[in-house]
Amino acid sequence: MTHVLADKMKKELSLLQPSDILKFDQETSSIPGIIKLTLGEPDFNTPEHIKEAGKKSIDANRSHYAPSAGTPGLRRAISRFLETKYKLRYNPDTQLLVTTGATEAIFASLTSIINPGDKILIPTPIFPLYIPIALLNGAEPVFMDTSDNGFVLSPEILAQALNKHGKAVKAIIFNFPTNPTGVTYRRSEIEALAGVLKKHDIFVICDEIYSELTYGEPHVSMAEYLPDQTILINGASKSHAMTGWRIGFLAGPEEVMRKMGTVHQFMITSATTMAQDAAQEAFENGMNDGTQMRAEYEKRRDFVYQKMTEMGFSCPKPEGAFYLFAKIPEGFPQKSIDFCVDLARNAKVAVIPGDSFGPGSAGRIRISYAASMDVLKEAMRRIEHYVTEKKQRSVQA
Ligand SMILES: Cc1ncc(COP(=O)(O)O)c(C=O)c1O
Repeated sequence: MTHVLADKMKKELSLLQPSDILKFDQETSSIPGIIKLTLGEPDFNTPEHIKEAGKKSIDANRSHYAPSAGTPGLRRAISRFLETKYKLRYNPDTQLLVTTGATEAIFASLTSIINPGDKILIPTPIFPLYIPIALLNGAEPVFMDTSDNGFVLSPEILAQALNKHGKAVKAIIFNFPTNPTGVTYRRSEIEALAGVLKKHDIFVICDEIYSELTYGEPHVSMAEYLPDQTILINGASKSHAMTGWRIGFLAGPEEVMRKMGTVHQFMITSATTMAQDAAQEAFENGMNDGTQMRAEYEKRRDFVYQKMTEMGFSCPKPEGAFYLFAKIPEGFPQKSIDFCVDLARNAKVAVIPGDSFGPGSAGRIRISYAASMDVLKEAMRRIEHYVTEKKQRSVQA
């Protein structure tokens, strides 16, 4: 009986696979002494003043439902944060929705705009979450491989895809600074892409969750150039080391946000009230909390980048987020899952197989350097030992 009912479930579910990243992370967790550079999770704790705001909120019995769009205080704080940091102007009363992490923002936005059969353009390699959500809603993902262009989508590839797929395209998804490559888009690149996108009547879903973690130029938002088309996704998870509080947000044109707000309401009613109070403190009085964390990530980036390239793993130097996307050198298993399993078993370091991130990812691995310098030093020492041993063995063979 259960089996028969399982067969009657939503047909798109058969297209979905469990997250490769979580699966690999769980599999390698059982190896004794393993160092995991797998998950995209800040190793810093939430800053004290934010924790205090959360505690005060609990003590003040802020344990009731919040307005579905988010508490007015948090929405005002987000609006000011976006204006101060990225020159974006959003009316806190009508253009912002507070979500349960960026994850819910992704789910609510795609669910609100997709009709079955719509095409969604996705530059790859990219954080994989958008793909199952698009599929679940009956959309067809159209991948644009950016690996030949330094992992940056060029206006030419974009224009080609838009011309080829025409009116069937409902939206394009961007994520920058990019998980898994660490690449980000410069002002001139955003300007050029916006020039192409402006001519098309499509949504531009822009996940800028790593916007506070850039190591060169400050972040430029796509919404600065395309305010009428962009659905902006961001949140407190990475900027303020608040992954467990689950606070994200959506920003966009008024009418779009009004309709999206109904989907968001049916999904979760409202984000957790005390977490919203803590996030208000983060965006209001901790606007620059990220600065110190960013400086620390930058040191780690420099260290890991130098070590990995010295060992023969080529990769773009990350300009944002906290990932390194490295090519497996010749002489090692080129299938990324095989390499990662071998590395986990023999070097006791877990990294994510590149294939999880779509076309352009083959033969690569993603290393998360959101770990302490001591952990990273030991991980690099182990990988170096593994690489040297393998090379010596292949010379002897
Ligand atoms: C690009 C990107 N978007 C969204 C998320 C999820 O963010 P949140 O924890 O706020 O749901 C992640 C998490 O790793 C991410 O890398």
